[in-house]
Amino acid sequence: MVLVSGNGTNLQALINAEQERRLGPGTIAAVLSDKPWVYALARAEAAGIPVFTEVSNKKLPRHEQRQDLSGRILETAANTGIDLIILAGFLSILEGNIIKQYAGRIINIHPSLLPKYGGMGMYGERVHRAVLEAGETESGCSVHLVDAGTDTGPVLLQRKVPVLPDDTADGLAERVHREEYIAIVDAAITMVKKIIAERQGRL
Ligand code: GRF
Repeated sequence: MVLVSGNGTNLQALINAEQERRLGPGTIAAVLSDKPWVYALARAEAAGIPVFTEVSNKKLPRHEQRQDLSGRILETAANTGIDLIILAGFLSILEGNIIKQYAGRIINIHPSLLPKYGGMGMYGERVHRAVLEAGETESGCSVHLVDAGTDTGPVLLQRKVPVLPDDTADGLAERVHREEYIAIVDAAITMVKKIIAERQGRL
């Protein structure tokens, strides 16, 4: 299951990989958004993938909001028989049982070389602006396992890009994005293989 909040270009990379049979036996069984009407949902529908929308209940205090949303996502995942959850531009924080029940089975893509430029408030253009302001000479993207923190789980893979002398946040974002499409597919392939190997080991 792929969780999204926006445009869904990483989701599209995964859809393309599945259509090209690069995910092996892996299939995208569901796409879930925490925002209605995002373009990622249109991409999923166009590919014939079942879509779900689960929006935060803003009337609840922040902590309960996360628990409540995470609980509904866990229910959808369990009902759909999901083995792997991929956060591909998903902006809500998962909390509670889902982290335990899917431990080692939730991955996230982040547009920086973690542990640098991760954590609360570090998303989208903010990441690239911070990288430029710090005068970094390289940036990139990371795919990591999701734990109870924000962008803190073990890193599975990273892809680097140079930061150019006259770079803008937009230019850097675009360069990082191109690497993300490779990284997210590679990580999905690795996880599918791992899940299958573990399953065979259990037989
Ligand atoms: C990506 O940069 C990803 O690293 C971050 O959110 C962005 C999502 O882009 N978590 P898209 O929706 O896949 O186009």
